[in-house]
Amino acid sequence: MSFPITRNRRLRGSKSMRALVRETHLHPEQLVYPLFVTHGTNIKDEIPSMPGVYHFSLDRLEEEVHEAYSLGLRSLLLFGLPASKDECGSSAHDEAEVMQEATRRIKKWHPDMLVIADTCLCHYTEHGHCGIIVKDKLTGEAVIDNDSTLEVLVKTAVSQARAGADIIAPSNMMDGYVQAIRAGLDEAGFAHIPIMAYSVKYSSAFYGPFRDAAHSAPQFGDRKTYQMDPANSREALREAENDVLEGADMLMVKPALAYMDIIRMLRDQFDLPIVAYNVSAEYAMVKAAAQNGWIDEKAIVMEMLTGLRRAGADIILTYFAKDAARWLKE
Ligand code: PBG
Repeated sequence: MSFPITRNRRLRGSKSMRALVRETHLHPEQLVYPLFVTHGTNIKDEIPSMPGVYHFSLDRLEEEVHEAYSLGLRSLLLFGLPASKDECGSSAHDEAEVMQEATRRIKKWHPDMLVIADTCLCHYTEHGHCGIIVKDKLTGEAVIDNDSTLEVLVKTAVSQARAGADIIAPSNMMDGYVQAIRAGLDEAGFAHIPIMAYSVKYSSAFYGPFRDAAHSAPQFGDRKTYQMDPANSREALREAENDVLEGADMLMVKPALAYMDIIRMLRDQFDLPIVAYNVSAEYAMVKAAAQNGWIDEKAIVMEMLTGLRRAGADIILTYFAKDAARWLKE
């Protein structure tokens, strides 16, 4: 029996034909490249569980930023590893810290490179939690205090904006964080600085390698009282809606690959830019398999990133940003 070729195959006949009907496109400007900055000099230390990702001291950062820029990337997500930590994360808003200094320098090197500042306390607290710990009055249990954490987060966001950050990206999952930070930024004269809200951040095992990288693993307990339960999707809508009402300018879903349904849901429900964070273990798994020769890294990465765009992400935060930008040029 013969079956006539249909339009499905007619439209796949050649490279140009496929390009003509392609629905989803990936551009370097849609990718955000995360960078870790640290104290000291001449440091470019590879993170063992994230091959190809490094801690940079300020003097080694410049070449990396230039390279990213020359590949067409225009957004960086900055994480700082402070010189000191305390109970309430006060080095997070120290204007002399590497985070703020790196921001100032990057804006000098490349004024049109967007600096996105991670606004959280977990790298800055001794206990590694994203907020300030108090003893619950009834149970005596250690709990995260929402209000006092917000105060420190606002100070942190303002110090980052003062250093030149173009976008504030609060990843702490406190209640009311968008409203508090928006008000703080407005009051300090930064009404023009957008907030990329980590609206839907799951309590995920996919952050493991990052916590090695950022030295931010919680020293006790876990983050389940403030990050979301991976089993929930309606709750994701509530989280996102809160953030929209509080003034968020962009909505993030994190992690990305196991949560593509959530990306699609947010894309369909809201008209703000949707951001997907392709997190550390998603990176590490691909790297490990590639190093073993089990997968074609380039093909896998491009398929993953295109898939995230197709699912509805306008912007993708990924440790593969430089690789992808390079492959897109080929
Ligand atoms: C916490 C934070 C996390 C990541 C970035 N900021 C997660 C966490 O430790 O809870 C994870 C990023 C990644 O895994 O790539 N503020």
